[in-house]
Amino acid sequence: MSLILPPLSLYIHIPWCIRKCPYCDFNSHQANQKLPETDYVAALREDLLFDKHLAQGRKLTSIFFGGGTPSIFSAQAIGAILQDAESIIGFEPDIEITLEANPGTFEQEKFSGFRAAGVNRLSIGIQSFNDVQLKALGRVHDRNEALRAVNVARKAGFDNINLDLMHGLPQQTLADAQADLTQAIALSPEHLSWYQLTIEQNTHFYSAPPILPEEDILVDIQDAGLQKLTDAGYYQYEISAYAKNKQRARHNINYWEFGDYLGIGAGAHGKITLAAQQEILRLWKTRLPKHYLESAQKITAHVHGHQNAYGGGGELLSPETLPLEFLMNALRLNEGVPADYFTERTGLSLNALQPQWKALIAKGLVELTRERLHTTPLGRRFLNRVLEAYTVS
Ligand SMILES: C[S@@+](CC[C@H](N)C(=O)[O-])C[C@H]1O[C@@H](n2cnc3c(N)ncnc32)[C@H](O)[C@@H]1O
Ligand code: SF4
Repeated sequence: MSLILPPLSLYIHIPWCIRKCPYCDFNSHQANQKLPETDYVAALREDLLFDKHLAQGRKLTSIFFGGGTPSIFSAQAIGAILQDAESIIGFEPDIEITLEANPGTFEQEKFSGFRAAGVNRLSIGIQSFNDVQLKALGRVHDRNEALRAVNVARKAGFDNINLDLMHGLPQQTLADAQADLTQAIALSPEHLSWYQLTIEQNTHFYSAPPILPEEDILVDIQDAGLQKLTDAGYYQYEISAYAKNKQRARHNINYWEFGDYLGIGAGAHGKITLAAQQEILRLWKTRLPKHYLESAQKITAHVHGHQNAYGGGGELLSPETLPLEFLMNALRLNEGVPADYFTERTGLSLNALQPQWKALIAKGLVELTRERLHTTPLGRRFLNRVLEAYTVS
């Protein structure tokens, strides 16, 4: 069985925010002084030049600016990064370029500039339209700014907009959660990411837990929300992702379909198929922005012959871990993935999924139908049980 090079995406991490939110464990740091924007853009360029050979002749099918808060950067900086990416790796003609933006006024002024710089999909971090809840979440924006952000984005020419919303918020009722969805739907975004708030270690909420809704309310919020979104024409294609008119997040789909991606910026991860060696490489860059900037132009690690700049690391994925690595991505998608992808993207025969797959079919948790590997609705609900079957001890 031989590995076939899958589509290539690029993740770009911008690690700063205006203020750190109490629930957030992303690699994001409060920007206390003037941002080292020029130095960071230069470091990203060096980082990409180091990784260039990993593209192996492919052009980029998608780019995602994530954070942190990428919209904290100027449109000129975002434009310069995109120009570098185009000249170093190259773009497929229909490339999707997403940028995460916060809905504050400071960011909205830049939306037209981001669009002009080549960003064609905006992901706005709304979280909630309820001022009480926004306050409890420590957000810097209020309901009105959130509403305005979507209008400003439309006026700036964005015809592909995602809104990030969270539910299960401190003291949230079923009616509150429904009101947030009603408002989001009224704005008619192409895509909605609807996450249940989780309390993560190393966050303020972990050390000072807020009062969250009871379990049965969380279930009601989830069930009623799914119904509401479905009725409004939003199709749930992944655990937290809903799209109208099939306008799915192509960048994320490439992750879930076990495609390849380069990751540049502080703490960014990449996953790359090495065609000549028939191996799969995972690599990561150093996490702290300060260290990342200091590492510029220094070769600090060698990964199986692959030089890795920026003080990060890398490892080759062992064949034993590949079934789990593949399934933990692929089975997040409601419709799963073509069965052929398993062989093409792991280099293993479908037999490598046995005997567990057969046992899971017998329990009604997974299926192989119309040549696709996927879970049943029951399996989606108990995805951990499905994945446990492939955990290598
Ligand atoms: C990298 S973050 C954010 C983008 C942007 N900085 C913002 O906050 O608007 C991506 C999304 O993850 C979600 N998120 C972050 N922390 C979370 C948590 N603890 N539980 C659930 N969702 C979370 C939020 O919806 C957030 O918009
Ligand atoms: S949720 Fe967004 S704005 Fe808040 S700290 Fe995390 S990345 Fe920054």
